[in-house]
Amino acid sequence: MKLIFKLLLLIFLGLGAIDGYHCKVVQFIFGDSLSDVGNNRYLSRSLANANLPWYGIDFANGLPNGRFTNGRTVADIIGDKTGLPRPPAFLDPSLSEDVILENGVNFASGGGGILNETGGYFIQRLSLYKQIELFQGVQELIKSKIGNQEAEKFFQEGRYVVALGSNDFINNYLTGVYSDSWKYNDQSFVDYLMETLDSQLKMLHRMGARQLMVFGLGPMGCIPLQRVLSTTGDCQQKTNKLAISFNQAATTLLNSLSSKLANASFKFGDAYDVVNDVITNPEKYGFKNSDSPCCSFGRIRPALTCLPASTLCKDRSKYVFWDEYHPTDSANELIANELIKKFGFLRADGTNNAPSPAPAEEPSSD
Ligand SMILES: *[C@@H]1O[C@H](CO)[C@@H](O)[C@H](O)[C@H]1NC(C)=O
Ligand SMILES: *[C@@H]1O[C@H](CO)[C@@H](O)[C@H](O)[C@H]1NC(C)=O
Repeated sequence: MKLIFKLLLLIFLGLGAIDGYHCKVVQFIFGDSLSDVGNNRYLSRSLANANLPWYGIDFANGLPNGRFTNGRTVADIIGDKTGLPRPPAFLDPSLSEDVILENGVNFASGGGGILNETGGYFIQRLSLYKQIELFQGVQELIKSKIGNQEAEKFFQEGRYVVALGSNDFINNYLTGVYSDSWKYNDQSFVDYLMETLDSQLKMLHRMGARQLMVFGLGPMGCIPLQRVLSTTGDCQQKTNKLAISFNQAATTLLNSLSSKLANASFKFGDAYDVVNDVITNPEKYGFKNSDSPCCSFGRIRPALTCLPASTLCKDRSKYVFWDEYHPTDSANELIANELIKKFGFLRADGTNNAPSPAPAEEPSSD
């Protein structure tokens, strides 16, 4: 009896050793200011930053943490609800291999786009190609830490989020100051974005991405900045049409990639319709204001960013927009819930698909 037990134990331990390092399922996030959790804080010359109050006022200790909103991003909320750790910013000086193995990495950068040339006037930002290049560096680090085979497994089991595109319109095509504005028309510009995204997503697949979600665009013609630029204060329909055509083209692209690429579950989801409905009927969703920023500089509009001297709306949970560009925490929660529905989520541990409440523990914002 004893001997059998010992033998079993040996076999068990032996198998354990062969199995080697047990990797966690973590997220790799690629995005713009809607998903940035602090990368731009470390781009000292970037004009796209959220380093000043009142950014972050409803997150952890309330100090600015690099998020371009008062609270959580959409990716924060989706990750929490699917039981995944929140990945730290790639440029965070405390990032190490161990941190990456436990939490993943977030490469998102305010001002970044699918196109390299997008957001040029922010001077510093990480575009999607740059973010993928940095991810390549992370892969090398992890390989040298845990070996090629385990690293391959780790990167194949990871969850990937790609959420860019609005800057390619708002801070490139629609500005009229970059060559993309006159080289392309609405249709050919969307095609150009899709060709670029296609090769970027294929690169990620070659690097191991198997489970990947692309977040689509909302009605970006209704962000306060776009309204203030129209004479009537209404949403810019041309801009909204571009978002719709981006979303349609991306749906087709992702369906095709998902069926072509080996073992890939690449999905696209957008919250356009629900956000559009919130903007038209804010009361229906418990909001009071859906056309102006909660943080603003009185009548001086557009205020390009929220500043310490700005005034805040009384109840932040009743505003759809936090600043001229970005939704509030409450609006992000609504968007996240819609995306979870669209993606038909399973929790990372595969136990159930009912979103669980966010962890009680507040994430630190360093
Ligand atoms: C975009 O930038 C990356 C480097 O970040 C570079 O490797 C690539 O060639 C550039 N692509 C184009 C089309 O300019
Ligand atoms: C796809 O999955 C199968 C079964 O797990 C595996 O043998 C194969 O190597 C995978 N192919 C790629 C390209 O990941």
